[in-house]
Amino acid sequence: MTGTSIARIGIVTVSDRASRGEYEDRGGPAIREYLADILTSPFEPVARVIADEQTLIEQTLRELCETAGCCLVITTGGTGPALRDVTPEATEAVCQKMMPGFGELMRKVSLEKVATAILSRQTAGICGRALIVNLPGQPKAIRECLDAVFPAIPYCIDLLDGPFLTTDEMKIKAFRPKK
Ligand code: MTE
Repeated sequence: MTGTSIARIGIVTVSDRASRGEYEDRGGPAIREYLADILTSPFEPVARVIADEQTLIEQTLRELCETAGCCLVITTGGTGPALRDVTPEATEAVCQKMMPGFGELMRKVSLEKVATAILSRQTAGICGRALIVNLPGQPKAIRECLDAVFPAIPYCIDLLDGPFLTTDEMKIKAFRPKK
């Protein structure tokens, strides 16, 4: 991968009901809009809407990270305590290393807004050369969480030899230590 290649970014909505068409997926489009709002470098979204099935989530994450060549995969949903919530387990199963700081920071900032943030087991990790970040299913959680962790994402992707992501500094100030 070169520094000028277009960044493919996976967007995975994990929801039994959205995958059955019982309601419209609002999380996936909200993530795409968020990325279009804050990124100034080109990106290509690769979206999936799937049921809360651990094997299916693992297959989808692997496909996006390995076959589709995504440098970043953002999931929404399935992070809570309900029996069907298995997105963090699927994330851990496909990752070679976990990045616990992402979940810690997202829960910290979320707790300042909603008491139920404690119920999200959202995590992040590295699958091959891609960073996977879990978000809760609530569409409003998307901006609340991504505003907190996005400053770290471009440098994390640099460290994985991925494309050079740049952001609108008025919205997200990405940190990159001086070489
Ligand atoms: N975090 C933020 N920032 N904003 C929210 O509205 N919702 C919480 C929590 N984290 C929320 C949040 C709720 S209500 C639940 S149940 C858990 O995330 C898990 O949600 P999920 O199972 O849809 O992933």
